[in-house]
Amino acid sequence: MRKFTLGTSKEQIIYMINERSIKRVLVGDKKIALVRIEDEFFAFQSFCPHRGASLLEGSINSINEIICPLHQYRFELKSGRVSAGSCADLETYPTSLTENGLVITLP
Ligand code: FES
Repeated sequence: MRKFTLGTSKEQIIYMINERSIKRVLVGDKKIALVRIEDEFFAFQSFCPHRGASLLEGSINSINEIICPLHQYRFELKSGRVSAGSCADLETYPTSLTENGLVITLP
């Protein structure tokens, strides 16, 4: 497992990531997607497990699922589980908001 820290403080990372927008982040050599809802962060693969569309162009609904822009499959942000559609689950990465920034753990 590899751990990466974004930002230098809790306040800075909350300020940097607009709530409910989907941000592309480079961690190590991997491009991932990051979403903040209040002070909870969700990190996940940036392309859809169905046919590889960019989830950076997707949207977040009111029950905290990401909706793929291509065929509207839906995935739970927390678990990555596919909730509408038929494909593999979304790969998600654990996050932890600390006083020193946001820690993202990749496999
Ligand atoms: S590519 Fe995402 S739902 Fe088909």
